[in-house]
Amino acid sequence: MSIEFQPLRTSDSDDYGEDEELHHEFGEIYDHGDDIFEVLETTHSTKGNIRNGIRRNYKYFCLLGVVMVIWAAIHIMIPLLKASKIKIALCENCLSAPTTLARDLPYLIYGTAWKESQTSELVKSAILNGYRFIDTANQPKHYNEEGSGDGWTEAVRELNLTRSEIYIQTKFSQNQDERSAPYNVSAPVSERVRDSVKSSLQHLKTNYLDALILHSPYSKIETTMEAWKAMESFVDDGKVLQLGISNCYKLETLSDLYDRSRIKPTILQNHLRTTEFDPKLLKFTRDHKMQYQAFWTLTANSNHLQKNEIKDFASAKGLSPQLYMYAFLLSIGITPLDGSKSHQIEDVDFIKRLQNKELVAFENEDEINLMANALEMKLI
Ligand SMILES: NC(=O)c1ccc[n+]([C@@H]2O[C@H](COP(=O)([O-])OP(=O)(O)OC[C@H]3O[C@@H](n4cnc5c(N)ncnc54)[C@H](OP(=O)(O)O)[C@@H]3O)[C@@H](O)[C@H]2O)c1
Repeated sequence: MSIEFQPLRTSDSDDYGEDEELHHEFGEIYDHGDDIFEVLETTHSTKGNIRNGIRRNYKYFCLLGVVMVIWAAIHIMIPLLKASKIKIALCENCLSAPTTLARDLPYLIYGTAWKESQTSELVKSAILNGYRFIDTANQPKHYNEEGSGDGWTEAVRELNLTRSEIYIQTKFSQNQDERSAPYNVSAPVSERVRDSVKSSLQHLKTNYLDALILHSPYSKIETTMEAWKAMESFVDDGKVLQLGISNCYKLETLSDLYDRSRIKPTILQNHLRTTEFDPKLLKFTRDHKMQYQAFWTLTANSNHLQKNEIKDFASAKGLSPQLYMYAFLLSIGITPLDGSKSHQIEDVDFIKRLQNKELVAFENEDEINLMANALEMKLI
């Protein structure tokens, strides 16, 4: 039987060079019969269709490849790189929060803002590394409160600790994105506080909070007091142990809140930009047995921390300027918030040495005043 070979054209294109190769490859076999011919013709046609399809759409395949590489970088490589920065060195002989407080020892509060999906692993690593004080807020715009809840519970399970050994504070925030707010933004203030605190307790997987902080005062003291009264009701119910206020930079506002409240604030949490620091607020907290907590201590003062003068003070004590800054604040009665991702072990080791008195960063008033001058910070 003789069959005249007709190259199979799968498109109008003349570009079927590889089809001709197939022709030579299959030409001899064509002589063996119609059945084989039909099978091969089908195979040939299918391969050709696929190849031509790829050729015609190769730009789209390239684009798809690029999209897949970008997707893999965002979803696989970046999280892996971030995670590789989180180091854990299980803290031995770390003191619980109540012991630290009872002995009036220095400590850092682990800050959880802006950690998004990494919050739970960072809070977990913070506790495994030795932090025992956690700060968060029911403000999804900046904090993942549920992540903090997952993080501390996992760490406590691994370390075989109890809830009472960890200190957890959160905030009621008025400044919210309407879509993610943990309450109805049109509801009365007292209702917003109640809904926010109830969901905080759920997010944080706890039946009490060590402290509840009003994230910022309202512009009118009457509204601040409405929120405060709702916060007080949680202390009455045993769901909250103490109350605090944040972002309160006017002494009059703080003293007004103090005077009007039935349950007094025991915490003031403010940013610390040394040139703007108001020592009258620090004096007020000392006089009223309140704790002064500070955020932005490293980020807002990074220019000062680069000064040779401060580097020299720090290196004389074997410290980095950042740890010397923390030591300075602790020595004047300010507790820094520390949201470290990659310095957790270093920061906990520093605190342990301070607690054990292996490290005395400030030996006298003169050293404190020299650092305050270098930071352009007024003291009491
Ligand atoms: N009440 C409020 O309105 C308010 C506002 C802002 C913040 N906060 C609270 O305060 C917490 C802390 O926030 P923050 O703004 O002060 O900043 P932060 O999140 O603590 O960031 C401090 C920076 O310092 C670095 N760092 C930490 N230890 C270091 C060390 N030993 N040497 C060198 N660098 C070091 C960290 O780097 P690595 O991450 O690489 O370690 C990080 O880049 C927040 O998480 C939040 O809980 C409250």
